[in-house]
Amino acid sequence: MVSGYARTAPGQVLLDTSRPNIARVYDYWLGGKDSFAADRAEADRLLAIWPPMARLSRENRQFLSHAVAWLAKQGIRQFLDIGSGLPTVQNTHETAQAIDPSCRVVYVDYDPVVVNHAKVLLSGQGVDAIMGDLREPDTILGHPVTRQLIRPGEPAGLILALVLHFLDAGTAAKLMREYANWLPDGGYAVVSVGAGDQETGEALAREYTPATLYNHSPGQVAALFDGLDIIDPPGLADARDWYPGKPTLCPGPREAGRILAGVACKPRPVRLRAGGHLMPAARTSKGRCASPVPGPTRVMASVASTAVLGRPSQFR
Ligand SMILES: C[S@@+](CC[C@H](N)C(=O)[O-])C[C@H]1O[C@@H](n2cnc3c(N)ncnc32)[C@H](O)[C@@H]1O
Repeated sequence: MVSGYARTAPGQVLLDTSRPNIARVYDYWLGGKDSFAADRAEADRLLAIWPPMARLSRENRQFLSHAVAWLAKQGIRQFLDIGSGLPTVQNTHETAQAIDPSCRVVYVDYDPVVVNHAKVLLSGQGVDAIMGDLREPDTILGHPVTRQLIRPGEPAGLILALVLHFLDAGTAAKLMREYANWLPDGGYAVVSVGAGDQETGEALAREYTPATLYNHSPGQVAALFDGLDIIDPPGLADARDWYPGKPTLCPGPREAGRILAGVACKPRPVRLRAGGHLMPAARTSKGRCASPVPGPTRVMASVASTAVLGRPSQFR
């Protein structure tokens, strides 16, 4: 049962405003109005423990917006945004459709109020919202709305922003592998995860009451990209620093509590001739993964990076 709801009868849930809820607490940190007293009390209590939390939340939204815009500029026209949260500013379809109005987005959340709000406020041409639990990829990926809006075989953007830390590292990595398997070649994963140092991260995980929160280490976050080519630079970066082509330090001088962010591409297969040379198609196509490095270097850089698949350079 999602926090902030009570079960009344089989199949029926009632909004329980006396208990804090993940989406509403986060909305409050973002400066939104969709929260109740219990959510605000929880959000303020957590801010007292770690004051940068509201700023970090806004930086996460900034990362999301930069990443979606960048994907749209690489030609991505369909997005699956899981754990999408309450509608706020710079929602995924607004950012993507500002680049190309034909972009299609499926918002997914396991919170019924989030999905109702998203249906009312965000749905439109090529955009819809569905109920779905991240832990059940088959249900999400097989949902009629997903199948209608996300065309199989066409590169897609998978967004898992600030949601994987509601799962332990092992479960998060296993699910990432399943979603990455589904992702068509040339598609991208956009991921951000809360990752504090031991003291702060564990204190926040202990104190956060809307759900079980897991503090992931930078190495565990990096492992989420295994099997994918991370866009590097920036590699794995603090959310506020993520921008393609911008080098960052990670791990490096760091805040005690941070949001780590990265974007990775599912490489297109490289076809080799018998002599081990790249087939012309691989050289002249748009590249296995678009990367901030332009031109032929980009293709070669991408190929080179497959030798160390998945790990951002800082973790090799
Ligand atoms: C912190 S908000 C992040 C919202 C948005 N992705 C962002 O980065 O701005 C996390 C959202 O994930 C949703 N969520 C948490 N666990 C989930 C799960 N197992 N399946 C689907 N949604 C989940 C919550 O309901 C909430 O709306």
